[in-house]
Formats: sequence, C-alpha cells, structure tokens
Amino acid sequence: MTRPRVLVTRRWPDRCETAISEAFDATFNRDDVPLGQEQLAAALHEYDAVLPTVSDALPAALFGGKPFRTKVLANFGVGVNHIALDAARGAGIIVTNTPGVLTDATADIAMMLILMVARRASEGARELRAGAWTGWRPTHLIGTALAGLTLGVVGAGRIGLATAERARAFGMKIVLYNRSPVSAGAMAALDATQVASLEALIEASNVISLHVPGGGGNRHLFGATEFDRVNPGTILVNTARGDVLDEEALLASLASGKLGGAGLDVFQNEPALDQRLLDPPNLVLLPHLGSATATTREAMGMMAFENARAVLSGGEALNPC
Ligand code: DGY
Repeated sequence: MTRPRVLVTRRWPDRCETAISEAFDATFNRDDVPLGQEQLAAALHEYDAVLPTVSDALPAALFGGKPFRTKVLANFGVGVNHIALDAARGAGIIVTNTPGVLTDATADIAMMLILMVARRASEGARELRAGAWTGWRPTHLIGTALAGLTLGVVGAGRIGLATAERARAFGMKIVLYNRSPVSAGAMAALDATQVASLEALIEASNVISLHVPGGGGNRHLFGATEFDRVNPGTILVNTARGDVLDEEALLASLASGKLGGAGLDVFQNEPALDQRLLDPPNLVLLPHLGSATATTREAMGMMAFENARAVLSGGEALNPC
C-alpha cells in the first residue's frame, strides 16, 4: 500500500521526524532554509499533507487553483495567522494547530521579559560584555520592583493566564482584558479583576503583556492611541505576534520617555528587524523564543504529526482551527 506523501517544511526535533518518517512517505527540509512561495504552492499539489510552521506564509493567493492534493495543513505551532484560514478551508484543506503544549514555555518567556526590562538585565549584560562595568555603586542600573505593581494581561487565554499566575508569585496584582468573561475559577485563583476595555486595562496597569492572536482585527491593537494612554513608566511585553504592536508607535513612546521599557519576542516583519529597535537601551529583544524548550518543541511536533495522521487516515482532526 502506498503511504501518504507528507512535506515537513523546516527541521523538526529528531523524535518527531522519526515518527513522521515511519508513518509516511516523508520529505524533510534538511537544509532548514524557509521554502519560497512557489515551493509552497507546488507542495499543495504534490503532497497529501504539508506540515508548515510560523515561518511559512500561506496567503489566500496560494489557494486559488484547484484541485489540491493536500488534505491537511498540520501547523507546528499554535498561532496560524500566517495561513489564510478561510481560503484554505474554501479549498477543502483542513488546518490544525498545537494548542496547550506551549503554554508554560511561552508564559515563562513573558515573565522573563518583564523581569529583564524591570531589572535592566540586558543593559547590565551589555555593559559587562563591553568591558564598561566600573564596579558596584548604590546608584548603578537601578530598576523597578515588581511586587505591588499591576500586570494587565491583554487576552486571557491559556498563555495570558499562565503569565498572570507567574506574576502573582512575584507579588503583582492582575487585571485582565478579554473578549469573553474569564472563568470564575481563574479569576479567583488570580485574585484578578476583568475590565471591559483595553483603555481601562491600560489605565489600571504598570506592566502590560500582550497575548492575543495576530492578524485580522488585532493588527496594531496597541498603537499610538494606546501608547498615549499608558501610565508613565509602564513596561510593555509582547510574546504574541509582532503585528499586534505598532513598532513605530512603540519607538516614539520609548523616545518620549513615557514608556518605561519594553520586551519583544516577536516582530512585525520577522525575521527582518527594524534596525531602529536596536537603539533604545530599555528595549529587550529576543528572537521568537516563546516555545523554545526541548520538551515543548517535541510536544508541538508530535501534536502536529498526530493531527496529520488523524486526517490522512480518514479520521477527524484533533486540533482543527
Ligand atoms: C506559536 O506556536 O505560534 C509560536 O509563536 C511558536 O513559538
């Protein structure tokens, strides 16, 4: 019996590639160079399943010609804003993602960014490596204590709530802004307040962490108007998607001194970086490391694999989008 043809667009953890090669007639991207639009378009006609990830743009234009061989796009990752979902569905292709397994890893990175900005960790590390440290002194690189400050979480899904849980352990108060009501259990566990608008969250917060999906109506959700509203000294962290934040407005707010600092793990045009982001000393930058732990990346890969296997064996997708 011929096995389904499957394309894995980037290098995956060994355990996942082994499982995929045992189950399918699989093509791997050994060089790990992102595929171009033409290669991705061709793949939809050549493979029964394509297993893409956040670095593969799959816009509506790719789903125009029919018929497609691909039945499932089993995405390695929870965010699917790089895939034109309606167009894929219209072409009869199921899209799946990997919710749940990267919650803790991503919340850890959000908390780490909050701490790094508050305690000026990047500035200190740079100073040391530049050989510019002149020694301990009472006024050196003074940061901000988190205990008693209010963390505003924008988007109270799994990762947002897990970030709030971590912030509680640092003595922070929690305010949540979410489209739907947050469960009574989560509110009680976090001793949180849910506010009805982003404006109200901004006004109540000293630290703000973004946890909403990218694309669509969330593009530039946090822009010039929102930066105008922040309390002086506010710290802003984004581990969600780059387009949720207007980088131009962020730079202006940092330059004006109103924003106390920011931490970004995601960027508007990643991996291309607006070089001006490198300048502000109080802007901490990470290269999209949210889910980058060995156990998390394995779990993501195995979940994407199981989704592809379920659909290709005629069953229901486990995590349809
Ligand atoms: C995701 O899963 O969407 C993450 O951004 C990848 O770490």
